[in-house]
Amino acid sequence: MNVLMIGAGDIARSHARAVVKLGGSVSGAFDVNTAGLARFAKEFDCAKLSYEQLDEYIAGADYAVLSTPPSRRLDYVEKVLSAHVPLYMEKPIATTMEDAEKIIAMAKKYEGRIIVGFAHRFRPAFVKMHDMVASGMFGEPVNLFSYRVGPGFGYGENNAVYGNSWRTDPKLACGMTIESVSHEFNLLTSLAGEFESIACNVKGTIDAIPQYDTNSAMVMRCRNGAVASIMTSWSSGAGANLKGFIGTRGSVLLKGRNMFEFDQLTYKTLDMEQEETLTFNDSYDLNKDAVIYHIHAHFQDCLKNGKAILTPLAEGVKVLRLSTAALESSREGRTVALDDYWRI
Ligand SMILES: NC(=O)c1ccc[n+]([C@@H]2O[C@H](COP(=O)([O-])OP(=O)(O)OC[C@H]3O[C@@H](n4cnc5c(N)ncnc54)[C@H](O)[C@@H]3O)[C@@H](O)[C@H]2O)c1
Repeated sequence: MNVLMIGAGDIARSHARAVVKLGGSVSGAFDVNTAGLARFAKEFDCAKLSYEQLDEYIAGADYAVLSTPPSRRLDYVEKVLSAHVPLYMEKPIATTMEDAEKIIAMAKKYEGRIIVGFAHRFRPAFVKMHDMVASGMFGEPVNLFSYRVGPGFGYGENNAVYGNSWRTDPKLACGMTIESVSHEFNLLTSLAGEFESIACNVKGTIDAIPQYDTNSAMVMRCRNGAVASIMTSWSSGAGANLKGFIGTRGSVLLKGRNMFEFDQLTYKTLDMEQEETLTFNDSYDLNKDAVIYHIHAHFQDCLKNGKAILTPLAEGVKVLRLSTAALESSREGRTVALDDYWRI
């Protein structure tokens, strides 16, 4: 398929490689950083677009990938959807519910086809975990969780680890709970359904950017009565990832050596004499391109064969509502009761 890139930064490269691996090509790219755009256009042998050329290239694309910072998107969403071109939108869809409402209105007006980039949902190790839970082999949900720590943007003196990013730009920063815990909300609700309440505390580690939380700890009550918890940190030099589902008839743990690594799936049901472990070669650190490939393969399959998108706009909106509820809980020091936040 012929794909247009709006935003030509780090993750756009993995998107472009996924498109090429699927037999397609990148027709053009746009970015406000002209030097970065030139490097990208050379690397992917695509047109280096001016803002004025965007409409023409959008019209000729099979879909567009939008990976600008999440608070810099509305104009591009309107351009892509009004041309009736499908949109792959990176998570988080926005940093405020006000922007999210505008995106919902545009999607309704133009009947937009949108996938939101919750890429971890499509990784082989998580898909296996999800399939096992969905089969009912572990019974009803009792306790589910995600604990994920490692060094992130803003870690180390003068951003020594990752360098500068929109993430630590005071005009664009939204923090970990909105940007990254979005993945946890997507994954955990896919395993055990929606939440009823949320209680959260966040902590930032850069005094100059108070809205940039780098640590988040929260507990949720699920509608089905299970308990859920998330603990994430971008300020740990050492890394680890543990996601789990404990049910009435068994449990399954997804373990990784670093924040986004999916190395091993260990499980045991009441009927098994001992636990078993499946080993995966599913590494974000070593092969981010492969992680992004799976979700593009899904999106292209949906577009070509009219299938339902697993992480549509509604999922992006739902997850942003959870992130904003978590921040509200932290700000106000109370448990937030959730309404039917998943409906749009
Ligand atoms: N799904 C995933 O696993 C995953 C992984 C990484 C990043 N992301 C998401 O992708 C998005 C981008 O992240 P990134 O790591 O690529 O950041 P990045 O800073 O590397 O890239 C963002 C690009 O957007 C450009 N840009 C900024 N403002 C713009 C504007 N107004 N118009 C056009 N271009 C503009 C920047 O110049 C930069 O090249 C974020 O929302 C992030 O959360 C998702």
